Amino acid sequence: MRSIINILDLTKEEIDQLIQVAEDIIAHPQNYLEKCKHKKLATLFYEPSTRTRLSFEAAMYELGGHVIGFSEANSSSAAKGESVADTAKTISCYADIIAMRHPKEGAPMVAAANATIPVINGGDGGHNHPTQTLADLLTIHREKGTFEGLTVGLCGDLKFGRTVHSLITAMARYDNVRFVLISPEELKVPSYVKMPLKQKGISYIQTTDIESVIADLDILYMTRVQKERFFNEDDYIRLKDSYILTPQKLAKAKDTLSIMHPLPRVNEIALAIDDDPRAAYFKQVLNGKYMRMALIMMLLEVK
Ligand code: CP
Repeated sequence: MRSIINILDLTKEEIDQLIQVAEDIIAHPQNYLEKCKHKKLATLFYEPSTRTRLSFEAAMYELGGHVIGFSEANSSSAAKGESVADTAKTISCYADIIAMRHPKEGAPMVAAANATIPVINGGDGGHNHPTQTLADLLTIHREKGTFEGLTVGLCGDLKFGRTVHSLITAMARYDNVRFVLISPEELKVPSYVKMPLKQKGISYIQTTDIESVIADLDILYMTRVQKERFFNEDDYIRLKDSYILTPQKLAKAKDTLSIMHPLPRVNEIALAIDDDPRAAYFKQVLNGKYMRMALIMMLLEVK
């Protein structure tokens, strides 16, 4: 029994394997219709979600399985004071696998330590979001054909953006990747995420100015300023419009740039960019479902 709390819980070889399975699902979905027949996924979402929860649920249905769960803490016994540990023990009696989102960093790890079934972290506070990274990796692989030698720009709220932390951690395992970290001073990538880059001698620069670096990028990963993580609303209001990607700002970008965003979008990417062939953010949404199907099968040891 194995859980996925951090993207590093998967080896590079396992990520390659998940991508191969996802590609096979895309090519031959009919072969997967009964892979998880009689299996149950529990989605325990203590924090709002559209993509992660519903793509996990769609993934399980497309594998022939069933779904139970809750979409907000207030409709579960957490509202009466039940601990994550007790909930994990309880859900282990009902389901075969758990996908969990929680506003507190580390909560899915506590669930995994107490569950007797696999737990998948669907996002914990401002910490990690490994299955979004799986969606991002399949998208990068499909768009670029490789993970190596890419210049990856990440822009926006790099402090609280858990998708950013997991993606940097994942991409840092590939050769000759360079990171361009574009954020306001107050929203820079945390030290614990940058430390492995320093230790491994991986190239990265930090800047506040997107226009001075956009021409160098192979990937531009835009992110929303994470309102729900701010303690002070005035700070959020001051920082929320720091970066708005417009067609004008893209003027100097490569024709081969891939524009990504984990979504939800507030206003970081102008709607006019949705029709640009370089926009890949809705491809990420679909790719997330396929990678979650592959991950569920891996953890349930379905052949
Ligand atoms: N990308 C992502 O995690 O979206 P949701 O918050 O809608 O799940």
